[in-house]
Formats: sequence, structure tokens, C-alpha cells
Amino acid sequence: MPQRPYVIDEMISAKAIAARIEDLARDIRGEFAGTDKLVVVGLLRGSFVFIADLVRELDLPVEVDFLEASSYGNSTESSREVRILKDLRGQIEGRDVLVVEDIVDTGHTLSHVTHFLSTRNPARLRTIALLDKPARREVDFKAHWIGFEIPDEFVVGYGIDFAQRNRNLPYIGKVRFTDDSP
Ligand code: IMP
Repeated sequence: MPQRPYVIDEMISAKAIAARIEDLARDIRGEFAGTDKLVVVGLLRGSFVFIADLVRELDLPVEVDFLEASSYGNSTESSREVRILKDLRGQIEGRDVLVVEDIVDTGHTLSHVTHFLSTRNPARLRTIALLDKPARREVDFKAHWIGFEIPDEFVVGYGIDFAQRNRNLPYIGKVRFTDDSP
């Protein structure tokens, strides 16, 4: 199916993102000061730019791992099946873990992933998301740290895609369709 034409309007600049990450990193360093080795878990694929910038601001011993989850919506119910497509390579039992996500939208993905990881008995399990769209929430989930709260708009850039495009934009932009369809 051909894609509808759209343009991208900048919503959060690269500079604003970098400044916010410095603040977040300061808080995270405070929380995990003295940790043996923090396991920073990026959720593929949308968090890959955020995790790269975040870990470089964390002056802590870190190990980086990745997890891939996929959520399949059911349009008739507010239920979702979340599947783990790629598990961690390392062990997290007794370790401090920080899960890094691009966006909390309905909340299903992070709620499932944190439940999944907590069954492995990490010492501490914390979550951070660059963006939060509280208006879209279907399950009660709140990340420990949020970069920016945004309205219910479809966004791209800084790792986040629209049909696998636009992940490489250095800023967060909102998708605006330029045809006449509703
Ligand atoms: P949740 O399970 O609904 O919270 O899903 C979060 C996932 O949905 C994110 O990791 C993104 O992959 C995707 N998502 C939610 N909102 C957007 C958006 O505005 N642009 C691109 N992907 C989005």
C-alpha cells in the first residue's frame, strides 16, 4: 500500500533532548550511586539512540543489554498481547536494572516487560522513557523517569520510526499528513 504523504514538524529539538538527558543522568547517578554494575536494558528498536546518549552521560559502571518485545493490539478490547521476541543475553538476578524505552503509550509494553524481568529477581528494577503520552494510557503504568510528556500525536525521530522510516532524525518531530484523508 503506498504511504500517505506527510511532513514532519519539529516538536523537541536535539538541543532540548541533550539538555534533558543531562538532568536525567544526574538523577539516575544519584539513585544508583555505589552500584556494583548497573544493567541498562534497551528495548529494541526505538530506544537505540536514547540509550546510546544516556549511557554516555552515566558516570557509573554499566553493562548494556537489549530486549525486544512486540505488542499486538486487539481493536475490539483494550487488551494487548505482548511477546518477548529477543531475550537478554545476561543474567539480572540480584543486579540493579534500568529499562530504557522510547515512548510509553498505552503502557502495555513496559508493564509486561517489567513484570517479565521482575520474575528474575533483580535487586532494583527501574524504568525510564524518553517520551510519555499519558492521554493514551490503557493500563496503569508509570515510568520512574520521563524525559518529556507529550500530547496524543504520532511522533518520529531520535530512534523512533513511522513504518521503519525517520529513525535517524536528530530531533523528535510530529507527523502531519498532507493529503485530504481524515
Ligand atoms: P505501548 O505498549 O502502547 O506503551 O507501546 C509503546 C510502543 O509503541 C513504543 O515503544 C513505540 O514503539 C510505539 N509507539 C507509540 N507511540 C508512537 C509514536 O508516536 N510513534 C512511533 N511509535 C510509537
